Amino acid sequence: MRKRLVAGNWKMNGTQERAEKLLMAIENYQGATEIAVFPPFLYLFLCMNFDTRFGGQNCCAYPDGAYTGEVSATMLKDLGCRYVIIGHSERRQLFGDTNEIVLKKCEQAFLAGLVPILCVGETLYERGQNLTLSIVQEQLAVVARLKDNCSAFGEIVIAYEPIWAIGTGKTASPDDAQTVHVFIRNQLSKIDFALGQSTCILYGGSVKPDNAKALFAMPDIDGALVGGASLDAESFLNIARS
Ligand code: PGA
Repeated sequence: MRKRLVAGNWKMNGTQERAEKLLMAIENYQGATEIAVFPPFLYLFLCMNFDTRFGGQNCCAYPDGAYTGEVSATMLKDLGCRYVIIGHSERRQLFGDTNEIVLKKCEQAFLAGLVPILCVGETLYERGQNLTLSIVQEQLAVVARLKDNCSAFGEIVIAYEPIWAIGTGKTASPDDAQTVHVFIRNQLSKIDFALGQSTCILYGGSVKPDNAKALFAMPDIDGALVGGASLDAESFLNIARS
């Protein structure tokens, strides 16, 4: 049985007070689907007082050292993080995270003992040009390189997030998402059959309580990476309960 996970990416939102309230509101969640939250770095320490799993929204591509303004994977692990989101489209589009940088960040995550949540997905233009699968394939090539070259390679989560669906209210139809998820699973299986079978593949992009059920009914969608709706405890928990 593959793990089911609903991950809440808070992005750069909120205050300490709001973060605490949100953590309090979800702390008693019990369900078969695992939940995890991804607050801004500054508020991660608040998570140490709660049972909910948590992770970083990003990490540095390098180990501890002279990298002003960065946060290392080791620091995230030290604080109790289980996961780290890597290669989110906002990082790729706004902060220059290339596949090479994504590779280095995943490597740091593995070495620190974190589970990377590797985000992949195409822009609207690329979808229009029928490039979805080749873009995703290129982004997933990182996994093959990690498997071959990273001694600490281990559990990884993939999040398929079509960029045109993020924060727009547009969602891929369950069938369209399923098609890409199957493709991702097949690509992983080519790297290693067991990896393909066991890897949890999340869908992300405007997941809300009213569309989650249909998405989760698809056999290869194992959960969601939720942005906007994760800032509201009820919405987030309703998605997890779907
Ligand atoms: P959204 O964001 O749910 O607000 O579309 C998803 C994400 O960016 O991970």
